[in-house]
Amino acid sequence: MNTQVLLTDKISKGGNILLVAEKKTSFEKFGLSKAEIKYVKESLEHKKDKIFINRLDSLLFIFVPEKKSKEERPALLEKYRRAGDHFGVALNKHKMKSVCIADAINDTEALIALAEGMVLGNYQFLKYKEKADEKKNSLKEIKIVAEKKYAVALEQMLATSEGTLLARTWINEPPCTMTATQFSSEVSKLGKQCGFHVDVLTKAKIHSLKFTGLINVNKGSNNPPTFNILEWKPKKYSNKKPYVLVGKGVMMDTGGVNVKPGAFMDFMKSDMSGAAAVAGAFVAIAKAKLPVHVIGLIPCTDNMPDGKAYVSGDVLSMHNGVTVEIFSTDAEGRLILSDALSYAKQYKPELVIDIATLTGAASQAIGRGGMVGMGTAPKSVMEKLKDCGLQVHERIAEFPFWDDYEDSIKSEIADIKNIGGSQAGAITAGKFLAHFIDYPWIHLDIAGPAFIESKDGYRTFGGTGVGVRLFFEFLKNIK
Ligand code: BES
Ligand code: ZN
Ligand code: ZN
Repeated sequence: MNTQVLLTDKISKGGNILLVAEKKTSFEKFGLSKAEIKYVKESLEHKKDKIFINRLDSLLFIFVPEKKSKEERPALLEKYRRAGDHFGVALNKHKMKSVCIADAINDTEALIALAEGMVLGNYQFLKYKEKADEKKNSLKEIKIVAEKKYAVALEQMLATSEGTLLARTWINEPPCTMTATQFSSEVSKLGKQCGFHVDVLTKAKIHSLKFTGLINVNKGSNNPPTFNILEWKPKKYSNKKPYVLVGKGVMMDTGGVNVKPGAFMDFMKSDMSGAAAVAGAFVAIAKAKLPVHVIGLIPCTDNMPDGKAYVSGDVLSMHNGVTVEIFSTDAEGRLILSDALSYAKQYKPELVIDIATLTGAASQAIGRGGMVGMGTAPKSVMEKLKDCGLQVHERIAEFPFWDDYEDSIKSEIADIKNIGGSQAGAITAGKFLAHFIDYPWIHLDIAGPAFIESKDGYRTFGGTGVGVRLFFEFLKNIK
């Protein structure tokens, strides 16, 4: 991570300052000159909430967020994150290395959100730029004026940021370098560093375990598949049965023999964003030492056309015995996920959540603003996850999961087929997955928010790392 964040007990003199205030704040106390106070007052009268003062040798920012009710707290925290990015951009523009953030409103949680937006927005992926050094952001250090008791909240923010930014980089790496093998080796290395266990199953083991989906999707590829089993089991944890996170790791989705036309293939390196979210969440959970037992299952392969590739018409006998007739090699994600979902049964899990860039339909339906959720978990569990989504602004729109959607994946010659009709594609994909579970389960389709083609506040261009902060928030609250 390229930004350091620390707590301090008072505003550092002479450096850049970002002050969170309200209209009635007495700015004298914060060392503002008369002229500055006059300028702030005028700006507030013009309803400006972000004020910028160039003190020549340093910058002074004042943020006066609109007051919100208790229910609007998640939206307010998101405003802080976005403001953090906004001020971070200005600091970088002025080639500033550090900033000290303080508040006059006694809301340290909000200050941490501000720093979070600054940290996430300060992310860059410059590995392939010739003049990377010149393009590097200047901002390196953020100090937060807060009491020591906020150290844990800060550590958690830094843990989730680190997981999120790692996920972004895995996604942004081109498919020629970020192969299944490479991803597995990076995750293994992180496991050793952070203290979670990683078992990488390679081709022979994948065959002996009869992971039919993964084997078939991989048939057209020169790169071998991997199946990654992650485990975080600290000495003390509160859940009797483990939580299992499953991530789709299609390192590059060309569509296979049903090759994706035109621009539909652009950025399909991001088809492993679910895998990145699960691995990034493990980094965050382990760094923050959350007292919860979690397992991660990540099948990885690319989806390539080739003489050896699987084709439409093939019938696959899956890991759990269900037979699948292939109608499109481009509906590959559900095939590799089904192996992992079926494998997860042995853990007798409390809950399984899978996360995948599964369907263009999900992206069409709600765009980059949120992910699509559905499943068989009790309503209270889904509500809790949705609430966590609001807290961290990785929002979930719940879709219906009615029985009749099942009709469109019926096959004439096999048990099911791998695509539904032209409608409700996100849901029929979910219905497909439901054939491989026997436990409470939630499916998250992140095809919309996983990768963005223009910066959106602290979500930088490219992989967003969506899912990491959601998983952490959910698992943090397990009692
Ligand atoms: N990886 C794609 C889904 C996707 C689309 C992710 C756009 C991100 C952005 C998935 O494997 C796919 O190709 N799905 C097909 C399914 C269809 C063949 C039933 C789709 O959505 O078109
Ligand atoms: Zn596909
Ligand atoms: Zn795909």
